[in-house]
Amino acid sequence: MSHILVTGGAGFIGANFVLNWLAQAGADSVVNVDKLTYAGNLKTLASLDGDARHIFSRSDICDRAALDSLLKQYRPRAVLHFAAESHVDRSIHGPADFIETNIVGTFTLLEAVRAYYADLGDAEKAAFRFLHVSTDEVFGSLGPTDPQFTEATAYAPNSPYSASKAASDHLVRAYHHTYGLPVLTTNCSNNYGPYHFPEKLIPLMITNALNGKPLPVYGDGLNVRDWLYVGDHCSAIREVLARGVPGETYNVGGWNEKTNLDVVHTLCDLLDELQPKAAGSYRDQIAFVKDRPGHDRRYAIDAGKLERELGWKPAETFETGLRKTVQWYLSHQSWVEDVISGDYRNWVAKQYAA
Ligand code: NAD
Ligand code: DAU
Repeated sequence: MSHILVTGGAGFIGANFVLNWLAQAGADSVVNVDKLTYAGNLKTLASLDGDARHIFSRSDICDRAALDSLLKQYRPRAVLHFAAESHVDRSIHGPADFIETNIVGTFTLLEAVRAYYADLGDAEKAAFRFLHVSTDEVFGSLGPTDPQFTEATAYAPNSPYSASKAASDHLVRAYHHTYGLPVLTTNCSNNYGPYHFPEKLIPLMITNALNGKPLPVYGDGLNVRDWLYVGDHCSAIREVLARGVPGETYNVGGWNEKTNLDVVHTLCDLLDELQPKAAGSYRDQIAFVKDRPGHDRRYAIDAGKLERELGWKPAETFETGLRKTVQWYLSHQSWVEDVISGDYRNWVAKQYAA
């Protein structure tokens, strides 16, 4: 049986990837390596209970012995690296975990994979890939009329999160250049969709709106992000894994630049339509709050290389993807309740205290 090894497969994008991957006919089995931090949630993967094609290991990517043992046991044909500390605001409150997982963890994983790769036969070596899932935030912040980020844009990370992801990207690149490891890196824009942890803008706004709480918009609400439906990110990763050129990087984006205020207004309008309040609009709950320190003004991705070279384009528009997402949250309130009943409350108290 052929395997792929996925790190961070109990998180938002990793779990969507695993679910989508195993929905394909004839898919390789998945060895899912996840530490189950606050962001990891096995309930997201409940539909795979009893499915022998999903092998879950609660392990830390900083644990070299655990990684060696999993690689030796399952001999994956590819490693897809999603595991990370991913929330910018948390990286501002406490950067240490970001350095540990995103830099030391990626380094530890690369070392384990380098040793594993060195022992593969020629045919297995030729087929093997290490795919590193990264972010557009490594490129820094754009002005209103600057061109979108391309694969040639210089790195200029501004938050502890993006700096730690930039460091991991550089390590991945170096392992190709120095050791010949067949790596692929994807730099993606903001994702949204099912199973998104409600600390991030879109699920936070949906959750707060439904609970009658303020919708906290940072600063003037005019920061711009480029939104991509998570299923489209997963299909891009599958394309890059199948046909990407080792050593290359690929930008992934939705061609959907929106201000945060536009996003929140659209969400409120969808909720007004799908779950109207007794009186008034969800827009009445919008509250402007203190800005994020060092808040990047604009991200925008030029995903042209992926389209030209691998024929990938997003399937969802922002309108179709956001409607699906709101509908998903409305019909999965127990998943949300479960997530927000625990430690999440402490985070909200700390972040939105003022
Ligand atoms: P997430 O925070 O939802 O999930 C991260 C997962 O990694 C969790 O399941 C967590 O338990 C696991 N994890 C954390 N530390 C670990 C460790 N030391 N060992 C093993 N597992 C560990 O993150 P996400 O939003 O799904 O992001 C996944 C990846 O995609 C990240 O690398 C992120 O940088 C990148 N990315 C995210 C976005 C986005 O919009 N969310 C966009 C572009 C790129
Ligand atoms: O661009 C890709 C990145 O997108 C990923 O690498 C990160 O892992 C992911 O978290 C995301 O980072 P952002 O910081 O852009 O996402 P977030 O959802 O935290 O914020 C989106 C925008 O909304 C940002 O401009 C800050 C703003 N915001 C966010 C929150 C949580 C608010 O105005 N209010 C909020 O309460």
